[in-house]
Amino acid sequence: MVKMKVHSEKKNGIIDKNIYGHFAEHLGRCIYEGIWVGKDSPIPNINGMRIDVIEALKAMKIPVLRWPGGCFADNYHWMDGIGPYENRVKMINTHWGGVTENNHFGTHEFMEFCELIGTEPYISGNLGSGTVREMQQWVEYITSDNISPMTDLRKANGREKPWKLKYFAVGNENWGCGGGMRPEYYADEYRRYATYLRNFGDNKLYKVACGANTADYEWTEVLMKNAAKNMDGLSLHFYTMPLDWSLPKGPSVGFEEKEWFDILKLTLFMEELLTKHIEIMDKYDEQKRVGLIVDEWGTWYDAEPGMNPGFLYQQNTLRDALVAGINLNLFNNHCDRVRMANIAQTINVLQSVILTEGEKMILTPTYHVFKMFSVHQDAELLETEMENTAYCFGEDKIMQLSVSSSIDSEGKIHISLCNLDPNHEVQISCELAGENKNKVSGRILTADQMDARNTFEDQEAIKDTSYEKATIVNNQIQACIPPKSIVVLEIA
Ligand code: AHR
Repeated sequence: MVKMKVHSEKKNGIIDKNIYGHFAEHLGRCIYEGIWVGKDSPIPNINGMRIDVIEALKAMKIPVLRWPGGCFADNYHWMDGIGPYENRVKMINTHWGGVTENNHFGTHEFMEFCELIGTEPYISGNLGSGTVREMQQWVEYITSDNISPMTDLRKANGREKPWKLKYFAVGNENWGCGGGMRPEYYADEYRRYATYLRNFGDNKLYKVACGANTADYEWTEVLMKNAAKNMDGLSLHFYTMPLDWSLPKGPSVGFEEKEWFDILKLTLFMEELLTKHIEIMDKYDEQKRVGLIVDEWGTWYDAEPGMNPGFLYQQNTLRDALVAGINLNLFNNHCDRVRMANIAQTINVLQSVILTEGEKMILTPTYHVFKMFSVHQDAELLETEMENTAYCFGEDKIMQLSVSSSIDSEGKIHISLCNLDPNHEVQISCELAGENKNKVSGRILTADQMDARNTFEDQEAIKDTSYEKATIVNNQIQACIPPKSIVVLEIA
């Protein structure tokens, strides 16, 4: 039995809806095939973008989408991706599979896609191999309504009005694929580039500096010390994969309980990372003005056999759903500093919410978690006390339950619970302090197999269903959370 107390009178800040953000890179089959099939494709599309994907992302309430990379961003020259298709320059995608990129999906297509799915664009500029001028002109091209060469060029390419663009990152992983820089050097470069990213008209940019790789606390320290004043956000990247990149990452399906346990334990490392990076940020920014932007996270396994290893295509199972639930609970619980997070990546790459094969499309278990958890978007985080139990495997153990709670603008309380233990259910007894509620309902995602998944042959093998095992009497909730499950309760 786990005893919990949710304090509805103790509100700990707004859970920014952008914590539920996504990331789509020109990598493998994410953009091409996943989003863009071209206007002449037999696959139903709007101006070249697949309708099934648009509808699924809208239903999931995707708040923000990061593009065009990733490592691709610091290799991308945006002017190659505008104008008539036949004039667009082809390039080699050197980072990802060495395939030819025809630049058919460029700025106009991305901004239109964001409009179609009702999401905010988040663009990563090229600092590694680009120029200040190129980055400055990109912002001008997208957001300016003045008389200027870039505005004229945009109009000539068919877009009269400027777009709104808030989120802009000044490079990606500049400690690695984005230029192999030292933090001192990048901090100076960041300041130089950021100076020239102007606010045109009433468009106001939110500038994100490249942050640390996993536990590189030195990077956060140097960036905050030297450039905090010039940034609105600082990123952090952490993938659920062995910290030593030379080790095998393991398969996405067909694993044993040891691999289940190891992956969930590794996922929980995010808590330590958030706490330590936030501690450093707090030292330089007590007011918490600068947001921590976890703009790449998720599982990273060995590529599926038979696929181009550079395409990073992997299946997605109940284990990934747990990884998503744990991370989203952690981001919710740190919402005083975490203002955005972007799972990698939306379609056909790493921990995707959607997989496609030709005209077929499936929703992964991770998709269902995002949909279930969307009730937390822009709600207020509630303080939650809990006497947790342990999930033991061999000599090792981790927490059994991961939890976060919020109250929305209509006064509904949502509690998201993940039971990490694949063998034991857990009974919870949860007091609602400061509230008078008498109705509880819920949704659940679970399955018999640890690697339960949807396939193109069996598209609905795992999806969320109604959860009926909770009661509420005198503001006391009793619920049984099955092994390896994710439950979101709604108390009204
Ligand atoms: O998401 C795949 C890659 O992982 C991204 O391109 C890069 O930023 C990170 O190393």
